[in-house]
Amino acid sequence: MENQAPVTVPAPDPDALYAEHLESQLARYSEALEACDHDALVIAAGEPAHHFLDDIEASFKANPHFRLFVPLDATAGSQLVLRPGHKPVLLHLRPKDFWHLPPAPAAGVWTDGFDVREVESPEALARALSDVLAGANHAAHIAPDEPFPTELLARLDFGRGRKTAYEIACMRGANVRAAKGHKAARDAFLAGESEYGIHMAYLLASSQEDAGLPYGNIVALNTHAAVLHYQHRERRPPADGHRSFLIDAGACERGYAADITRTYATAPGPFADLIEAMDQAQQELVAEVRPGLDFVDLHRDAHAAVARILAGSGLAEGTADALLESGITSTFLPHGLGHLIGVQTHDVGGRLAGPDGSLRPPPEDFPALRLTRTLEADFVVTIEPGLYFIPMLLDELRSRPEGRQVNWQAVEALMPFGGIRIEDDVRVTASGCDNLTRPALAAEGLR
Ligand code: GLY
Ligand code: MN
Ligand code: MN
Repeated sequence: MENQAPVTVPAPDPDALYAEHLESQLARYSEALEACDHDALVIAAGEPAHHFLDDIEASFKANPHFRLFVPLDATAGSQLVLRPGHKPVLLHLRPKDFWHLPPAPAAGVWTDGFDVREVESPEALARALSDVLAGANHAAHIAPDEPFPTELLARLDFGRGRKTAYEIACMRGANVRAAKGHKAARDAFLAGESEYGIHMAYLLASSQEDAGLPYGNIVALNTHAAVLHYQHRERRPPADGHRSFLIDAGACERGYAADITRTYATAPGPFADLIEAMDQAQQELVAEVRPGLDFVDLHRDAHAAVARILAGSGLAEGTADALLESGITSTFLPHGLGHLIGVQTHDVGGRLAGPDGSLRPPPEDFPALRLTRTLEADFVVTIEPGLYFIPMLLDELRSRPEGRQVNWQAVEALMPFGGIRIEDDVRVTASGCDNLTRPALAAEGLR
């Protein structure tokens, strides 16, 4: 891959797709409102939280229902009003303030679909809101301090599974942005940088600030790769050298997320071989993605793949089938195979069984699985199998009879490498799938 000619990723322009996105979202929201006997919906962007006993604000991310319509970052305090049959109204708060720079007026092609009203204070916004709601008798609110419209939210969240062409274009763009960061991070790892140095290289190359990331970067060297959501960044390179590197880092484009993980080794050997095997297995799992596939079955296939890798690498004794049957793969892969992704990294609704809010819980043997739905065209999901050497889980397995299947000497030799995860974002098409991540990484000379 490294020496191949650069590939360019075809990047459809989200602007050209926004009007169709808005139309289909308005239809979806109107249908849900009518089904729940509401004649209006007020969606608050929300307010930044304050740290406990402190006047400093935490970084702000708008309510996902708001971001789904409004591709702006600085929207704290703004509100959106949807009324079936009416043009949506954006009450855009631009407070008069000499402490802060107020947000710029709402601009862009997307504003064509809105009646945008710029307001200068929360009081002016409240007055404008009551004007806009005149004649609406059963408004629902998705807002802090308002009763939660549970039934309506279940309908909306269930329908969020299928993404519009605009949303897919945004996520494709987010993958292109994230891929630039992954390239810089991989190079920084090979150059011997600390976790902190790698993280900063990622931010710079992907042109992002920490607060704008879809989730906190996981930048894990050596044994830190065994911590699934490792949250620190050591300022110094590891004293015993760089062996392995797991990076789980994404990007946002107009509020839509990319969520990508890659794992590297500095030298050939059993750990590098495991990365190869996992990369192959991940691509085989991606190749299974198509409409009608039960994601729980695909998750089980991921465990079967881990069982084959354990048997094939000599980490455990016995056939892959016997290893799978014994349940020990959960020690090495304790998280779910993937999740819905969209305007939230872990997009909601992954366990909904229907628009009525009924649930399909994960199977008892796989409680961490976030996605239990049958895939439909235009779902976007992550496929992120892994294989980790997590001391706490290995200790527990060692004390059980099934632990006798494990080749503990081989496992101990790999514990200093932490673990492996390979994660792509994949769109379900009419008959298969379209990987949003691999072409973006290939354009950067990565795989
Ligand atoms: N980055 C969090 C996840 O992969 O789900
Ligand atoms: Mn993920
Ligand atoms: Mn991830």
